[in-house]
Amino acid sequence: MRTQAALYEEIDLELSWSEAELPERERTKHVHRLHPYLGKFVPQLVEAFLRRYARPGRLVWDPFAGSGTTLVEANAFGARAAGCDVSAFNCLLGRVKTAEYEPGTLLADLVAISPGEEVPQREAPSPYLGSWFAPRALAELLDFRDRIEGTAYPDLWRVVLSRAARSARLARHFDLDFPAEPVRGEYVCHKHRRVCRPVEEANKFLRRYVRDAVRRVLEFADVRRCAEASVLHGDARVLDPPWPVDLVMTSPPYPGLIDYHEQHVYAFELLGLERRDEEEIGRGVAGYCEGVSEVLDRARGALAPGGRVIVVVNDRRGLYDGILAAAGLRLEERVVRHVNRRTGRRQGEYFEEVLVAAPARRRVKARA
Ligand SMILES: C[S@@+](CC[C@H](N)C(=O)[O-])C[C@H]1O[C@@H](n2cnc3c(N)ncnc32)[C@H](O)[C@@H]1O
Repeated sequence: MRTQAALYEEIDLELSWSEAELPERERTKHVHRLHPYLGKFVPQLVEAFLRRYARPGRLVWDPFAGSGTTLVEANAFGARAAGCDVSAFNCLLGRVKTAEYEPGTLLADLVAISPGEEVPQREAPSPYLGSWFAPRALAELLDFRDRIEGTAYPDLWRVVLSRAARSARLARHFDLDFPAEPVRGEYVCHKHRRVCRPVEEANKFLRRYVRDAVRRVLEFADVRRCAEASVLHGDARVLDPPWPVDLVMTSPPYPGLIDYHEQHVYAFELLGLERRDEEEIGRGVAGYCEGVSEVLDRARGALAPGGRVIVVVNDRRGLYDGILAAAGLRLEERVVRHVNRRTGRRQGEYFEEVLVAAPARRRVKARA
């Protein structure tokens, strides 16, 4: 175990931004905050490694694409982007963030989806929806869902619907990440430091997030230098990556930390998305190392000559030397960075490692 002093000596200060150097509005710039997502890496970290290892016009691949940070930043940099994820909701996020939007058509959609004033209450379509939303909030969400049909950008509005549903759940305001059970009465709110009541309506969120989404997609349209991105839905252990890839930039799930399907259960329920929980890596420790190395092995096989695999991870169990070796990768550099975690109620210091790897020479020879 390294001491904190030894750890600080190893830290890459250029990649360890403080809140003042990299405020939240920069970390969540344009489409990066279309919808909250736990376990995202900061776009500026991706940006730094794209500058070092990617080339405009070439391909960047993220097999654990999550909310699409790599894809968005690759497009902003001018590279083509491809990714995959086992969660259908994450794939939706990645596609929506990297899609192109025409301002006039967006405007026509805005008229079509504008929430109604008095929405009649309805029977809950599933037990989850019936227990996690007040009747009025659920009616407003279902009404908005109906209005999405026939619009030009239904997926964008599905993400807005999900974001509003997340905010409108019967959850305590300070407990939106993983609320354990619905709350129906008043409670002491740690976030607002007063007594709060659960939310009863959804339209105020829908209106706010519709405007916010339009602003964000147009802001991204102004800065992106490439508009080629594709997102595959599936298990990265068996999906073939595109070829040839210049740079693989990814952050794998970590065992037992976040359940990536459960995190967005409200979206799966409202949108009727297919769940593939059993294929999610990291739901337990068993099979974790084999699973991640299978994915990285496939990624290595898709690399163009000179290509790199960059893995962002908090490797406190020391698993990644073995994982990289089993994937036929050779570690070139291990960068430690301090992660600024100002959001949420998480305590304590947090460090993250960026592993820069290239195909192992021995393995390459054996295949030739
Ligand atoms: C740490 S997150 C990636 C976050 C991403 N870097 C971002 O900034 O949004 C890991 C992702 O791996 C996905 N995942 C887990 N098992 C997978 C599998 N077998 N195939 C593909 N993706 C998988 C999870 O759904 C999750 O979105």
